[in-house]
Amino acid sequence: MSSIATAPEVTSAVAYEAVQGLSATPKTLTPWLFYDEAGSHLFEQITTLPEYYLTRTERSIFAKHADEILAQAAGEHHLTLVELGAGTATKTGILLAAAVRRQTNVVYQPVDVSQTALDEARDNIETHIPGVMVLSQVADYTSEPLKLKRQPGVRTLALYIGSSIGNFAPNDALEVLQILRSQLRPGDSLLLGTDLAKDEATLLAAYNDASGVTAAFNLNVLTRLNRELGANFRLENFAHKSIWNAAESRIEMHLESTVSQRVHIPANASCPALTIDFAPGETIHTENSYKFTATSVGSLLQSAGFTSVRTWNDPNNLFAVTLAEAS
Ligand code: AVJ
Repeated sequence: MSSIATAPEVTSAVAYEAVQGLSATPKTLTPWLFYDEAGSHLFEQITTLPEYYLTRTERSIFAKHADEILAQAAGEHHLTLVELGAGTATKTGILLAAAVRRQTNVVYQPVDVSQTALDEARDNIETHIPGVMVLSQVADYTSEPLKLKRQPGVRTLALYIGSSIGNFAPNDALEVLQILRSQLRPGDSLLLGTDLAKDEATLLAAYNDASGVTAAFNLNVLTRLNRELGANFRLENFAHKSIWNAAESRIEMHLESTVSQRVHIPANASCPALTIDFAPGETIHTENSYKFTATSVGSLLQSAGFTSVRTWNDPNNLFAVTLAEAS
């Protein structure tokens, strides 16, 4: 486990979210809590699993259509690329390489809550794609306005890929896109990656992989609360569970208490102590991953003030990459 101390403001945000979510009925934890150092590493592993088709499928769409996507977004203009929740920007390189083929110099503006992820993104991009200048920004794009660098005549292409939008309930997703839209100008555009609704077996396998990496990813949130808040979750008393909620068109991840048990989170600077009782079979709902249709993507974009220009899919229609113009 990492020995790097966590910043106090991060600890208080973790404490706030944990106490809020675990004292609610039903119990919940917000999915951003997954992404501590160990969790980010586990997520990277998930993206390479045979069952987890999302990352490789989106990458294949970029690999096949990057030039077309960039041409469509640029028209006669130069582009700057902004990325929401960029992480380490592993898939973005394909799009940036296509951008420098068009215009030799490209400003890439990744936005993420993690400084370490952004440092890695810069290393990845600047060493592999000459002509790209990285201007990174640590920010929570769901609550803070982006500080976009603009140059006269240069259009902004905002990237929101990886089906990250799928973590948000429809109203929250709309709000995230509206905030983004308010910072774009007519002619700017958004490239949105969305995972598509499909047969239940394929979806369930992607979130219940045979090697147990997703289970480890889900359970790691409890390890994080034990380490950072001094909680006493016993991991052997919780089981990873993913279900398909067809009515809401989402995969839900839960941590199921396998026994009747009581867990404590001691008081800390931001929150009073909390005692949490679990009945056997009771769950903590840790994530929603919404799955879309062409229609649901189109209406979400339209409600947020975008006009869909074009969608690219893989041959099996697992995933969609949609370019939309700020209207
Ligand atoms: C990063 C939100 C797109 O929903 O598929 C992967 C996270 N959770 N396996 C997803 C995740 C479990 C992922 N997103």
